[in-house]
Amino acid sequence: MFTRNMVLGVCSVLVAWHGVALAESPNLGKAASPEEIASWDVSIGPDGAGLPPGSGTPKQGEQVYLAKCVACHGEKGAGKPNDRLVGGQELLAPGQAPVKTIGNFWPYATTVFDYVRRAMPLNEPKSLRDDEVYAVVAYILVLNGVIGENDTMDARTLPAVRMPNRDGFIRFSKGR
Ligand code: HEC
Repeated sequence: MFTRNMVLGVCSVLVAWHGVALAESPNLGKAASPEEIASWDVSIGPDGAGLPPGSGTPKQGEQVYLAKCVACHGEKGAGKPNDRLVGGQELLAPGQAPVKTIGNFWPYATTVFDYVRRAMPLNEPKSLRDDEVYAVVAYILVLNGVIGENDTMDARTLPAVRMPNRDGFIRFSKGR
């Protein structure tokens, strides 16, 4: 059973601990180096701001996909065991659980680049070269029928890709 003194005791320990934390840091961790910061400073805007140099074709991307993605995303992005990457509006039809894919959901191709570069392959994120990311994104876009199989993706062409669901989002802005 708690007594008043026990409660006061716990409080004073907390106050004392807080005081220590303010007085000096616990000295954990280390300052991030410029290289470490650069490896996380990889955000790409919807307009393509921040896209790196390099390029890739769907054909090159197919090789990357077969080597590094197919085990989790299935042949031609059909899914299983993990997310399906390919498919259109029919997967969002009423009366069934919606399956969101790159083709039917993602509004910007540049975001696919950003995501793949920072997070995929799941077991080895950030291991792809920028050319490989451009290529594998191009391959996924071809599988979704968004670009042609001879289209090269780079910092100029990728932001110009119009994703099928670009207008499917409701903009939220202040004051509305
Ligand atoms: C070890 C398994 C694994 C491998 C290998 C892998 N992925 Fe994934 N991927 C996942 C999982 C799991 C998710 C879902 C992650 C989540 O929702 O947080 C995912 C999500 C994605 C998504 C987002 C799908 C969506 O609609 O939200 C894309 C795009 C993607 N992966 C592309 C790739 C590409 C390209 C490669 C190869 C370079 C790759 N993945 C390799 C497991 C994997």
